[in-house]
Amino acid sequence: MTVSLEGKSAIVTGAAVGIGNAFARALAIQGVNLSICDIRGDDLQEIAETLDQIGIEVESTLADVSVPADVRGVVDKHISRFGGIDLLVSNAGTWAQSEATDDLDKSDADWDKVVGTNFAGVFLFGRAVIPHMIAHGGGNIVNIATDHFCTCGSPNVWNHDDAPDCPHGINPPRPVGGGSIMDLYDAGKSAINGLTLSWAKALHEQNIRVNAFCMGATDSHMLRGFNNFDPDPAEEAKLLEEFGWMKAEDIADCLVELVKEGEEGRSGENIGFALGHPVRLPKRQPIPTFMYEPLS
Ligand SMILES: NC(=O)c1ccc[n+]([C@@H]2O[C@H](COP(=O)([O-])OP(=O)(O)OC[C@H]3O[C@@H](n4cnc5c(N)ncnc54)[C@H](O)[C@@H]3O)[C@@H](O)[C@H]2O)c1
Repeated sequence: MTVSLEGKSAIVTGAAVGIGNAFARALAIQGVNLSICDIRGDDLQEIAETLDQIGIEVESTLADVSVPADVRGVVDKHISRFGGIDLLVSNAGTWAQSEATDDLDKSDADWDKVVGTNFAGVFLFGRAVIPHMIAHGGGNIVNIATDHFCTCGSPNVWNHDDAPDCPHGINPPRPVGGGSIMDLYDAGKSAINGLTLSWAKALHEQNIRVNAFCMGATDSHMLRGFNNFDPDPAEEAKLLEEFGWMKAEDIADCLVELVKEGEEGRSGENIGFALGHPVRLPKRQPIPTFMYEPLS
């Protein structure tokens, strides 16, 4: 069963560029009214105008997801304009090089930036919207993690019947982690899985579904920056074909499909999208019993 999203409302964080931008567009095409926020003012303005042209209502706020007052501001504005919130997409993310051997001062600053955005941002937005979702009888939360720990080779994560073998050649297990130069990125993203599972369990009775996406390399502002990818426009399509990066639009279509599952849809899943595999929502996993049985 799928439900219509027409007239629903959602918050998408980090919507100025990249995958969040694609999430916002895909939801707008479904008729979802949106609050978007970001720290990139000009790009935020641009996407707000595009969403407005699609014909939905848009609330756009310059806000840093790691700052509690900014988070409260976005959610308060959303509630006063739309009356409630049906969907939160906690997408805003950032990357900085951080290593086990870094000194304490650099590490302190990296913590604020990377964990502040990638983990605290998800935590704060969740805390801010959950009371409103409960008050309105339910909702959906989708947290954006990464494939560094949960990917095609991980048991119970990848379950397309017709998926080809893990493109990394070891299936399972595949090597995990983003490498030695992103310990805080990996730690913050991994921690999102804890929130997703815990919230899915805690909020099941309140009709709130909580899932995560843990995709691999997806074409975006961040990925292009990370790889210093700035090709001659004539070469771009050929290079992208060679790399096989996933398209943000395809991931966004999966988000729409997930939300359209409606009240009976899945919850507590960390949904993987991996290079070399079809980009589509995998079949639902069996409901983990721990989600619905109280711990004794
Ligand atoms: N692109 C990939 O390959 C990939 C893979 C796995 C997970 N992800 C995750 O997907 C999400 C989107 O990433 P992307 O690749 O589109 O990156 P991106 O850099 O292209 O877009 C991220 C957006 O978040 C915004 N942002 C960053 N810090 C913020 C903050 N403190 N407050 C508000 N907004 C902030 C940025 O300005 C930008 O608009 C991130 O959480 C990222 O970690 C990306």
